[in-house]
Amino acid sequence: MDTPLDDLEQIGRVDPRGMLDVITTLPESAEDAIDSADKVDLKLRRFKNLVVAGMGGSAVGGLLLRDWLQQTSSVPIIVSRDYSLPGFVSRDTLLFVVSYSGGTEETLSAFEEGKIKGAKIVAFTSGGELEKRAKAAHITIYKLPQGFQPRAAIAHQLLSLIVAAKKAGIAQDSWWEVREAIDVLKAMREEMRPETPQWSNPAKKLAVELHGYIPLVYGSRIHEAVAYRWNTQLNENGKSPAGSSFIPEAFHNAIVAGEADKELLASVCAVFLIDSAEGEHLASKTRRFMDILKARFGKVLEVQTCGEGRLARMLSALYVGDFVSAYLGVLYGRDPSIVESIDRLKQG
Ligand code: F6R
Repeated sequence: MDTPLDDLEQIGRVDPRGMLDVITTLPESAEDAIDSADKVDLKLRRFKNLVVAGMGGSAVGGLLLRDWLQQTSSVPIIVSRDYSLPGFVSRDTLLFVVSYSGGTEETLSAFEEGKIKGAKIVAFTSGGELEKRAKAAHITIYKLPQGFQPRAAIAHQLLSLIVAAKKAGIAQDSWWEVREAIDVLKAMREEMRPETPQWSNPAKKLAVELHGYIPLVYGSRIHEAVAYRWNTQLNENGKSPAGSSFIPEAFHNAIVAGEADKELLASVCAVFLIDSAEGEHLASKTRRFMDILKARFGKVLEVQTCGEGRLARMLSALYVGDFVSAYLGVLYGRDPSIVESIDRLKQG
């Protein structure tokens, strides 16, 4: 056995709560989420904007929904990650309030503000105070299954949001992409799961490359939330510092980081999410950006997206990052599920 990532017993010891199992079964969780969300009787009125309120792992579903529907939605989709909501929120707002635990103070505060402003609220939670308050106010609840780390319930969160967005009339034309995305993830998972040896497992190989480096993740605008998910998963599952930015915005600031002292950059690794559907102009500028970083950064790695639709391309890149982050946690000898600092700060 030449690598700790091929030692399944060792993985079991470092990951006793099974973060890698949860990641491996993500496509089935997505299917379950569609089945349960389809059963929810959601009554809506006309709305002019959609706001998704949530924090941390519970904001990611909203960010992905925003990026996915960016070019097709007839209404703006805004993600709010704060105690208060944007000033424009009114009776014309459809407000999705997402808190996996149901106990996050910022999200509960946004929920109360949404009620005062008369927004049409829909709650997404596994229970807690949010469920209690939503029930008391006769607000529709998409009930998420219990027993996950909030960030690991991403399939349930995202697919419930997508089903609700479809009922709201803003995702129905793109629905075919959901089936494609799940099929793509099922195929990819075979080569990334823990049982697949490192020599043929791209996620294990990437984790080994990132071990000892600070990853900075870049993707094009449709992968803004995906690059951010890599960042936060590397933080939480991998216990690693990380950063993310998106292209073309990164051409106007992040690129200058390549001018830092080479010694400082020696431990920085850029990860580029490469999407072959990008146009020629952006692809060639991205290549030039990568060349600049290759000359300066410790390492530059590439991850290729899969699939045709926007959703499959986004989720394929996300899925690699979820696996990589958990394998990195294992390499650092740290339980990918445990996030002590978040828990301590929440307890006050
Ligand atoms: C923990 C995680 C955190 C939480 C965040 C908000 O897995 O990813 O970022 O998502 O602290 O908590 P919830 O999601 O319960 O509202």
